[in-house]
Amino acid sequence: MKKFSQIFVISYCFSFFLFQTIFAGTVVDKFKIEGIISIASTKALQSELLKKLDIKILDLNLKKTDSGWPVLRIEYDPDIISKNKIETVIGEIEDPAGHKYKVHKGPLIANANLIDEENQAMTILGDMTMDLKQVNNPTVDFDSSIKRGKDVFIKNCAKCHGLNGNGYGVVAHGFATWPRQLWAWYKADSAADSYLYWIIENGKSDMPPWGLVLSEDVRWDLINYIKTIKKPEEN
Ligand code: HEC
Repeated sequence: MKKFSQIFVISYCFSFFLFQTIFAGTVVDKFKIEGIISIASTKALQSELLKKLDIKILDLNLKKTDSGWPVLRIEYDPDIISKNKIETVIGEIEDPAGHKYKVHKGPLIANANLIDEENQAMTILGDMTMDLKQVNNPTVDFDSSIKRGKDVFIKNCAKCHGLNGNGYGVVAHGFATWPRQLWAWYKADSAADSYLYWIIENGKSDMPPWGLVLSEDVRWDLINYIKTIKKPEEN
């Protein structure tokens, strides 16, 4: 009996030790991620992180998060990697469109200083004051342009503007300005083009600039598509 209890104690200690070494001090932290603009960018973020750091990604929750920002949950050993290091690496990764991610801190500040990336975009795009130019819609085949526009919209815009353009996109809760209800432009005529063209090219407050990301043709596809978004029926 004595021997049995000895074996029991030894094996108990051993398994405890084993457990400790496998799960030694790992912690789970949440990171609010700014800069996710497409499904491709969610994949790129995760695969690059795994390449660069010895961590485990638990999940990336795009919807229904407390703050409205997509939340990445990571399990890691703080003796090996610091939280700061993870944040720095997240900030260095580029998505497929060449945009950088950032870990969101605190509430969104509407008049925050511009980050380097925004400054760089502005030197290329020019003055950010709204300077509407006369534009001419070059579209010949509207039906196929609208179809293409819809695909690009679902990929890049619906996150903020909502699938049906109502403005309640899944990542928009933390924003200072609400993404606009795009059905306001249903059947708009060409007089609206200068404004729509400008805002999609340059962005405004939390609306990102797409001038460097999407080609001019694609931006016209979006304008043509936006004008077909109807106000959802009230239930
Ligand atoms: C990160 C969130 C976000 C994404 C992604 C986004 N938008 Fe926006 N959008 C906004 C916000 C916020 C505004 C309101 C800006 C303001 O007026 O201050 C806005 C405004 C607009 C407006 C002006 C509407 C109006 O009535 O004034 C248009 C048009 C527009 N977005 C189109 C698009 C298109 C097209 C895409 C995809 C290529 C897109 N947006 C992607 C957040 C977003």
